[in-house]
Amino acid sequence: MRVLLTSKWTKVAVFFLCLVPLGELLWRIIKSELGANPVEFLQHATGDWTLRFLVFTLCITPFRKLFKLPDLIRFRRMLGLFAFFYVCLHFLTYLGPDQSFDLSAMWKDVAKRPFITVGFAAFVSLIPLAITSTAGWIRRLGGKRWQMLHRSIYFAAVCGVIHYYWLVKSDVRKPLFYGALVAILLLWRLAGWFSRRRSQAPVRASAPTVSMNG
Ligand code: HEM
Repeated sequence: MRVLLTSKWTKVAVFFLCLVPLGELLWRIIKSELGANPVEFLQHATGDWTLRFLVFTLCITPFRKLFKLPDLIRFRRMLGLFAFFYVCLHFLTYLGPDQSFDLSAMWKDVAKRPFITVGFAAFVSLIPLAITSTAGWIRRLGGKRWQMLHRSIYFAAVCGVIHYYWLVKSDVRKPLFYGALVAILLLWRLAGWFSRRRSQAPVRASAPTVSMNG
């Protein structure tokens, strides 16, 4: 398994796999197979893929630990950047066909419709993550600060689920399904944080205190 996960070809294969949804959309555009409402079709498909890629990215850390596959980390950045790529397409399908690239109309809509407000907040919170995803930025910010900043992916995922839940009119099964996935992934992290704190507490308590005399 390790050989597979560390191979450069696996990374190339995963990269092309992540492009399959885009390929499918382009194919449908060429063949005019976008249904009765092409804009809605594109908005829904790109929105779905954004949420899926956010979930895939959040799965990496638990999967690394549960299945003892530390090399999975090699795919986390790519998956996160694909989430950003699909949300950019999603945003463009809104800004272009819905708002005719009129930024002042867009701001009014962002302020008026709560589901657009949270979607927009999720999108904006992903921008710094995409910009600082390079090794250079990890060095510049320092590991701790970089990690803190990149925790805003949790915020983006939660806002993404709320956005979805608020926009559906009747059948809330799909947004609830994504909500459950995101909740499990976040609770798993929270449980890890609590157990680390608990295991550190006795060490801290028994550590010698530093006196004024050294
Ligand atoms: C991380 C950010 C976001 C995520 C995860 C996300 C996710 C989704 C999902 C899952 C859907 C529904 C897909 C379906 O019905 O199958 C959707 C629809 C939609 N989203 Fe987003 N979205 C995000 C950001 C945005 C932003 C920034 C905007 C615009 C400012 C936006 C505007 C819309 C619109 C207009 C729809 C279609 C609503 C309708 O059909 O009534 N989304 N989004």
